[in-house]
Amino acid sequence: MGLKLKNVLPVFVFLLLASTAKAQTVFDVTSAKYGGKPNSDITQALSKAWTDACASTSPSKLVVPKGTFKFLGTTFKGPCKAPIAFQLQGILQAPADGNQLPKKDTWISFDHIDRLTISGGGTFDGQGAIAWKQNDCHKNQNCKSIAINLRLDFVTNSMIRDITSLDCKNFHINVLGCRNVTFQYVTITAPEDSINTDGIHIGRSFGITIDHTTIRTGDDCISLGDGSQ
Ligand SMILES: *[C@@H]1O[C@H](CO)[C@@H](O)[C@H](O)[C@H]1NC(C)=O
Repeated sequence: MGLKLKNVLPVFVFLLLASTAKAQTVFDVTSAKYGGKPNSDITQALSKAWTDACASTSPSKLVVPKGTFKFLGTTFKGPCKAPIAFQLQGILQAPADGNQLPKKDTWISFDHIDRLTISGGGTFDGQGAIAWKQNDCHKNQNCKSIAINLRLDFVTNSMIRDITSLDCKNFHINVLGCRNVTFQYVTITAPEDSINTDGIHIGRSFGITIDHTTIRTGDDCISLGDGSQ
């Protein structure tokens, strides 16, 4: 008995230390403080939770739990005070009607953030079906701008893993001015006949890694703009 405890105790202490070292402050969008509820619009709740998580001086974790949540879109702005994890376990759903988005060319963007992790197994659902039907940009030079699902603008030392981008209205993911960003176990899906739904478009970025990623979409899977290494 005494011998057993002696053996087990160091392991326990090690595990305890390991878990405190990784401790993150959790900001759950469905907590009483933010009041997000499944099947309702969490635009305000999520934006507020981001502001708090981003201001946290210790590593933070923003959680959208399992369930379906409506989200009009926003820019998640940095710089943040510490590493920040956006854990999407559920489904975030864009309005099907692009006119409802605050920014017509973007649903969700992450802007000027260092050490961002987006993960959690959840889905960014762009609900693009109506937009594909209305897209006339192949014949109309002044066509309406159509929203990209996710923009990463000036994001550095970051990891996007284990998430899905589904049925974007325009491109799925646009990477601009980023450095050292890894995409891993990402799933990108839109129907074959959806218009201009490029998978990951990379411009003016350095050190972007894409691996174990499945892309099935209506346009290019990965496209490269100018100025990348
Ligand atoms: C690149 O980013 C990862 C996080 O995804 C980080 O662990 C690593 O240290 C970064 N590499 C450099 C050279 O900064």
